[in-house]
Amino acid sequence: MVELLEKIDKATSSEELEKVRIEILGKKGILAKEFAKLKNLPPNQKREVAKELNEIKQQCLEKIERKKEEIKEKELYQRMEKEKIDISLISHTLTSGGYHPVIETMDRILDYFQKLNFAIEEGGLVEDDFHNFEALNLPKHHPARDMQDTFYFQDGYLLRTHTSPVQIRTMKKQTPPIRMVAPGTVFRRDFDLTHTPMFHQIEGLVVEEAGKVSFANLKAVLEDFLRYMFGDVEVRFRPSFFPFTEPSAEVDISCLFCGGEGCRVCSHTGWLEVLGCGMVDSNVFKAVGYENVSGYAFGLGVERFAMLIHRVPDLRSLFEADLRLLEQFRNL
Ligand code: DAH
Repeated sequence: MVELLEKIDKATSSEELEKVRIEILGKKGILAKEFAKLKNLPPNQKREVAKELNEIKQQCLEKIERKKEEIKEKELYQRMEKEKIDISLISHTLTSGGYHPVIETMDRILDYFQKLNFAIEEGGLVEDDFHNFEALNLPKHHPARDMQDTFYFQDGYLLRTHTSPVQIRTMKKQTPPIRMVAPGTVFRRDFDLTHTPMFHQIEGLVVEEAGKVSFANLKAVLEDFLRYMFGDVEVRFRPSFFPFTEPSAEVDISCLFCGGEGCRVCSHTGWLEVLGCGMVDSNVFKAVGYENVSGYAFGLGVERFAMLIHRVPDLRSLFEADLRLLEQFRNL
């Protein structure tokens, strides 16, 4: 009897316990053999021994049951130990992302104009000669086309060199008044410290009945916009030339780095050029069939704004996907 209970006690796994159970209680097990012997005993002993055997059987069953629970618990702990995941080791790759500085700058610019009720318009990246040049008063062989080195496709299509064609497409599908900004990527064959073959522009256009908008409106909006973007800066309008506007101007802000004293960034002029603008040329209105209207337009490079705001010295670094640079903008 004691031996049997010890046997049970020695089992260390479910399998071992099951083996022991069969050995003791199975059909051909130790107890079965003992029970079989009963028939050879004289009747007076038979009852006695049978009773004893039944008690032993009962005890073995109980012991096995207890042992089973014990082993089950032990095995559960062993399994938990083996399958344990150390959640205290947080992987450093689980950091959150952030906006790219160019996109963040673009969003800020669009925010400003949306508050002034400008609609956001978008055009395709592949344009034809008419929308990218011709309708913008840049006829074939016009010397101003040299300002933009263009990626051409073989069939006469091209990658847009500016977002100005969106002006044309919007005017063609709508009637005045128009108040729109067109953000997007543009492409030119250029690559150096301040030029990449792909960059982002935002074009603005306002068209009203003739006489309802003037250069003064353009000036007021852009001055306010530039102070919204750059804080307390001086703004100056310089006469310039764009084929699609007449008169045209380039707009400068006082240098953010030296406050106008003159430094390397502003080439010692005290000024930083930030955008182009003007009153829409009558030839542009003619190309889209508009009459008796006036309007103004402007265009800016988003990377230039981002570089000035975040003091990034090399434009190309914005597109190298170098996490060391991008991580600095994670909390924008
Ligand atoms: N399209 C010009 C460029 O890419 C930028 C520009 C200048 C747009 C003056 C305008 C404008 O609408 O009035 O260089």
